[in-house]
Amino acid sequence: MVITGASGQVGTWLAKHADERGLDAVGLGRADLDVTDAGAVSALDLDPETVLINCAAYTAVDAAESDADGAAALNAVAPGLLARRTAETGARLIHVSTDYVFGPSPAAPRPWEPGDPCAPESAYGRTKLDGERAALAADPRTVVVRTAWVYTGAPGAKDFVGTMRRLADNGVDPRVVDDQVGSPTYASDLASGLIDLADLLAAQGDRPGAVVHAAGGGSAAWFDLARAVFAGLGADPQRVSPCTTAEFPRPAPRPAYSVLSPASWTALGLDPLPDWRDALDRALA
Ligand SMILES: NC(=O)c1ccc[n+]([C@@H]2O[C@H](COP(=O)([O-])OP(=O)(O)OC[C@H]3O[C@@H](n4cnc5c(N)ncnc54)[C@H](OP(=O)(O)O)[C@@H]3O)[C@@H](O)[C@H]2O)c1
Repeated sequence: MVITGASGQVGTWLAKHADERGLDAVGLGRADLDVTDAGAVSALDLDPETVLINCAAYTAVDAAESDADGAAALNAVAPGLLARRTAETGARLIHVSTDYVFGPSPAAPRPWEPGDPCAPESAYGRTKLDGERAALAADPRTVVVRTAWVYTGAPGAKDFVGTMRRLADNGVDPRVVDDQVGSPTYASDLASGLIDLADLLAAQGDRPGAVVHAAGGGSAAWFDLARAVFAGLGADPQRVSPCTTAEFPRPAPRPAYSVLSPASWTALGLDPLPDWRDALDRALA
C-alpha cells in the first residue's frame, strides 16, 4: 500500500492502522511526493499488487475561493496524474473525495447516494468533483471514496472537534450553526475502512472502478456535534448555543444537507463506519 498526503488527518491514521495490522505501507508526505509534479508522479514506483490511497488535497475550503488555481492543481489535476500512473502500472487507486460535491438539498432531503446529481457550490467542491472525473477518466478502475466532516479530535488539532475541545477547556462559550447537517467522520474509522477496501481490491483485482460513500453513521448538525464534544468532555453542553449560517457568513458556501448514505459501501461487503456518537466517544477518550 502507498499513501499520498500521508501527513494529513486520514493519511496519519492510515499509517497507524497499517502498522497495527502488520501491513506493508509506504507513507509519502508532501516532501516525499508532490502530487502536482507530473514528472515525480510518473516516476512513482508502483506494481500491479499495490493499492495507492490518495489523501493529498487542498482542504482549506474557504481559502480555495480565492486560490482557485492552487485548489485545482491539487484537487482537480493531481488525481488524474496519479490515475494515469496506476493505469500504466496496473496498480489500484483509491481516491478520497468529499460530500461538498453535492449542492442545494432537495425539499425532502435523504442521504446522498453516489449516483445523485452533483452541483458543488464552492471552489473546493468543484475542484474535488473535477478530480473524481479526472481520476476515473485516466484509470476507470479507480475507486473514489467520498467522505465528510473529517476530524481527529486530538488535543491541539485544528479540526472542528479539536477546536471545540479547546474552547471547552478555555472557558469559551461558542455559537455554532445548527442549519448545516452532515455525517461527522472520525479519521481513524475512515482510515480503517479504507484499509478494508484496499484489502478487498487487492483480493479481487478485476473489481471495476466505482464511486462510493464512506462516512460516520447517523447525522448531526455542527451544533449537535459541538454540544456532544462539550458533553463528552464533562463540560456543560448548554454552553454551546445555536446560530444560523446566515449569521456566520464564510467565503465558501456549504451544503445545508450533505449526509452520505452507507449503502454503496455496504454493498461492497464492507462494514459500515460506526455511528458518529460512538466514534466521538473514542476520539475524546
Ligand atoms: N477534512 C475534511 O473534513 C474532509 C471532508 C470530506 C472529504 N475530505 C477529503 O479527505 C481527504 C483527506 O483529507 P484530510 O482531512 O486528511 O486532509 P488534510 O489533513 O488537510 O491532509 C491533506 C494532506 O495533503 C497534503 N498535501 C498538500 N499539498 C500537497 C502536494 N502538493 N503533494 C502532496 N501532498 C500534499 C498536505 O500536506 P501538508 O501537511 O504538508 O500540508 C496534507 O498532509 C481529502 O481528499 C479531502 O478532500 C476531507
